[in-house]
Amino acid sequence: MTSCCPGREAEAALCRVEDIPDGGSLTAAVAARPVILLRRGDAVWGYLNRCPHFSVTLNAARGTVLTYEGQVLMCAHHSALFRFEDGLCIEGPCQGAALDAQPLRVEEGCVYAGDPQAR
Ligand code: FES
Repeated sequence: MTSCCPGREAEAALCRVEDIPDGGSLTAAVAARPVILLRRGDAVWGYLNRCPHFSVTLNAARGTVLTYEGQVLMCAHHSALFRFEDGLCIEGPCQGAALDAQPLRVEEGCVYAGDPQAR
């Protein structure tokens, strides 16, 4: 985690918004759980990095989670496609299932893990 915002040392940010490639992904950890951060412009989404059909991470070992045209992320194992907006699998062996959302909040250009109860 990164402490990137002045005056916010008590709570470490996951990253800065610009650390996530626009239209791409960044992996991080929240409470020791692997998460995927996705960005399109100013919009940022977070999901647990765990496929709903096989309970494995979606990236190749130590690799970036693949994305396509800033719209979907792709499972490195089966090329299944999951939408940025809601984590829904639109193509692949788990079509119709969705990734578990990781609530986030963005303050002063930094991305923080949100309260899961606040959804
Ligand atoms: S592990 Fe489920 S789509 Fe690849």
